[in-house]
Amino acid sequence: MSGKTLDNLSTETREFAPPEGFSAQANLSAAAYAEASADRLAFWAEQARRLAWDTEWDQVLDWSDAPFAKWFVGGRLNVAYNCVDRHVEAGLGERVALHWEGEPGDTRTVTYGQLRDMVCQAANGLAFLGLRAGDRVAIQMPMLVEAIVAMLACARLGLVHSVVFGGFSPAALQSRINDAQARVLITSDGQYRRGEAVPMKNLTDEATAQTPSIEHVVVVRRTGAEVDWVPDRDVWWHDLVDDQPTTHEAEAFDSEHPLFILYTSGTTGKPKGILHTSGGYLTQVAYTHHAVFDLKPDTDVYWCTADIGWVTGHSYIVYGPLANAATQVVYEGTPNTPHQGRHFEIIAKYGVTIYYTAPTLIRTFMKWGTDNPAAHDLSSLRLLGSVGEPINPEAWVWYRTHIGGERCPVVDTWWQTETGAIMISPLPGVTKTKPGSAQVPLPGISAQVVDDTGTEVPHGSGGYLVLTEPWPGMLRGIWGDPDRFKETYWSRYAEQGYYFAGDGAKYDNDGHIWLLGRVDDVMNVSGHRISTTEVESALVSHPTVAEAAVVGASDPTTGQGIVAFVIPRGKAATDRDTHITTLRNHVAQEIGAIAKPRQILIVEELPKTRSGKIMRRLLRDIAENRELGDTTTLADQTVMNLITEGLSNQK
Ligand code: WT7
Repeated sequence: MSGKTLDNLSTETREFAPPEGFSAQANLSAAAYAEASADRLAFWAEQARRLAWDTEWDQVLDWSDAPFAKWFVGGRLNVAYNCVDRHVEAGLGERVALHWEGEPGDTRTVTYGQLRDMVCQAANGLAFLGLRAGDRVAIQMPMLVEAIVAMLACARLGLVHSVVFGGFSPAALQSRINDAQARVLITSDGQYRRGEAVPMKNLTDEATAQTPSIEHVVVVRRTGAEVDWVPDRDVWWHDLVDDQPTTHEAEAFDSEHPLFILYTSGTTGKPKGILHTSGGYLTQVAYTHHAVFDLKPDTDVYWCTADIGWVTGHSYIVYGPLANAATQVVYEGTPNTPHQGRHFEIIAKYGVTIYYTAPTLIRTFMKWGTDNPAAHDLSSLRLLGSVGEPINPEAWVWYRTHIGGERCPVVDTWWQTETGAIMISPLPGVTKTKPGSAQVPLPGISAQVVDDTGTEVPHGSGGYLVLTEPWPGMLRGIWGDPDRFKETYWSRYAEQGYYFAGDGAKYDNDGHIWLLGRVDDVMNVSGHRISTTEVESALVSHPTVAEAAVVGASDPTTGQGIVAFVIPRGKAATDRDTHITTLRNHVAQEIGAIAKPRQILIVEELPKTRSGKIMRRLLRDIAENRELGDTTTLADQTVMNLITEGLSNQK
């Protein structure tokens, strides 16, 4: 477990009551907890009524085939209708849905009325390609309006989207397309990144060179870059969509109809296709967006800085906010283009009231200095959120002070790709917040910190985070691999029927939950989940590598940094620095730039137990410049000396 960046956790005692006046106007009061615990299923049924159902359910939860859940059994609804059409029908057609800001400074304003037309046109276009409900559609795109429209058009037709983050390599895209057997890929010609137009389609073409299931590639024009074209397969978005009718009848689908697959790293090299379905998922994202962000849809301007390639973008840019008829900002680019104050400039420009981002960016802002936020009018902000990794108390307090003007509640939200929606978080009008802690399970959610035997630990103690009751937004499985689903999440506490989250956690003396990082071989780099095995497999796939071991070492900005120990194969053909550069680039090619090791150390041996298991703990000690922990279980006691001596020679 890497609790290293959080060394001030155990001594943190600051508390911040909800700001004056906030509680009085808040969407939720403390009564929500009591109401939910009095009758959990009735509570969730009440939340499901936030949505428009074509047919109401006849059973809230069917858990008879656990851990395969069914929520709102028998209910039917259309997710896109819920996110767009019904708001227009309610007279909100003129309300801005998206204030879109391109990286070069171009902008688009999209009202709910326009969004409905666009989604209908895109749905008609995708239907024209012959796609039918249940088919999979891969999407790899920058943060464009069309990306959101494409997801909603899929939802409207009952197509299952699989969005692949734009930073993933062609090889990663290819394996995801093949795993899901996607029939169509939607992409763009290029994207703006750090002030430059960079290619996208040329990369996806590498992926689709070996994806037999792909029949069409739909291409949005963004940068105007020249692209290669495969006739009959490739089609421009504007040719396919622009002349389609702006009306489309939304069919209602079963509450358990698959909505999307989203791949995330597990403990093995093969990413897991996390499957989410319709009614329960939309219920929980809509409810939590309302409860945690205290959304007032007619006055708030909400901004979540995530990318749609991650679950945060799915749940808190696309489905939650749109189901709630929110007005939101969507920004295409990087936070320091063209200058380090870009986010603050955007907050001031649109009068953003709710800002939701990741600790890694907050720490980057800290590094860039307080002048940036100070130079802009941030007085519109009234609430701040954090997600993706444990936030260290200093970053939390900096966020509250320098961005929140000491008046905004900060909500630290714990959840996962698998949970679909926020699970543990303060309620901004209720909870006295504590810097560094996600604190309390939301109303309707049951979480505990337990020991190895599944017994809840006492206050003041640590253990593993589990979810003790099913929840509406829970994953319904791993695409094509029910055994892995059971094994990964439900086998550790099979007796109790608990979901094992993979996170270490502790209770403080008030019984509030503090998350301590992953307890498995999953790293968290800038809030991105990357498995050690995934990077190891990428490294050993290079002909010059005999063996590799990867650890996540604590990093002041990115949370964890990837450190690789590599045993070279054969005689080195190049000098060490060139070799290391080659290997870093190779990992970027195999997985994506986000997985590039921060550091590669060339070693002659790796520390192993007698059963041959690599002792990552010791490698982490080296990577974090610590004294070595207990080495008695090493098969060869001299190995660590060999490694440390070899490394000091490299310096
Ligand atoms: C893992 C899930 C949730 C969307 C983004 C990440 C870590 C997430 C927090 C938080 C401490 C957190 C956990 C979790 N994590 N939020 N507020 N405090 N840790 O989704 O890629 O599925 O990663 O992120 O370790 O298991 P993900």
